[in-house]
Amino acid sequence: MKIVEVSVPTKVTLFGEHAVVYGKPAIAIAIPRRIVLRGSASTSPGLRIRLSNVRVEIRSVRIDGSTEVEVDVDELRRILSYVVKGFEIACRDEVKGLDLEIRSDLPIGVGLGTSAAVSVGMAALCLALRGYEGSELVEEAAHLGWRIEREVQGAASPMDTFTVAYGGVRFIEPWIPRAVALDHGDLPLIVGYTPKRFTTAQLVAEVRKLRESYPQILNPVIELVGLVVEEARKAIERNDLEKLGELMVLNHRLLHVLGVVSLETEKIVRTVLEMGALGAKMSGAGGGGAFVVLAKDRRDVDKLSNVVEALGGRIVATSIEESGLKVFSG
Ligand code: MEV
Repeated sequence: MKIVEVSVPTKVTLFGEHAVVYGKPAIAIAIPRRIVLRGSASTSPGLRIRLSNVRVEIRSVRIDGSTEVEVDVDELRRILSYVVKGFEIACRDEVKGLDLEIRSDLPIGVGLGTSAAVSVGMAALCLALRGYEGSELVEEAAHLGWRIEREVQGAASPMDTFTVAYGGVRFIEPWIPRAVALDHGDLPLIVGYTPKRFTTAQLVAEVRKLRESYPQILNPVIELVGLVVEEARKAIERNDLEKLGELMVLNHRLLHVLGVVSLETEKIVRTVLEMGALGAKMSGAGGGGAFVVLAKDRRDVDKLSNVVEALGGRIVATSIEESGLKVFSG
């Protein structure tokens, strides 16, 4: 029996979230927190899923006589919808039954590309069971993963799925679509999150509504984000960290106009900037969720990490994951 294990990194958006949905470029970075899917084809049809070590938020605990724990089942249901859609789209008629185990040490749905990692992971698993391998498998998994996200969410850019499939620092050109690898030096980043109250689909819909109500105001803002991203690409390639930080702040301010910056994130961004960070911004869809800080150097990463944690932020990565999707079969 062929067993396939697929390991997919998660990611953080450095520049261009939301505007990328309207065809502007974006820059995203894979981070070394991985989601692992392990599966084998089965003769009994359908999908059997085992989740191990998948973290789900606990909403409340009551202990008086008996113990009651309320967990965030919606979040679990949401992530499983990517798994089921992935099975439908990528396994198709060729793998009729699948026994699957999913492992993730990152909380799901906080804006770090977990849904993209699950989508690309499901696509890669099914493709490997169908006999695909090498770069053909990776390329097909990136495209199929993007399709899975679009079908579950209604709208998605290729940014998240392409970044987790290929790894490294990626300049996303959604109009092609393509994810160009950017040469970069050491980027002293802090990637973290605060609790997120809305889904990516809800936030993308909110921005769309605002743009439909005020196209003359919102379209120029989206154009400006595109310009910031082009400048940021040059700053990364020249390893100009000061400029990169300034551009992160500019991008963050433009995201304010789109209405997606939460109070918790704002507090973290302002404080780290006052404490000497070169740049800081919310990241991903917003409404809480991910943020990214650019420190002056590695020593400052440690200092600013303490500040971020004291403000309630949880840190998930301070380095870049250069490799993308990995597939092992045996
Ligand atoms: C989600 O990580 C980032 C958004 O730009 C949506 C997308 O690109 O699909 C908000």
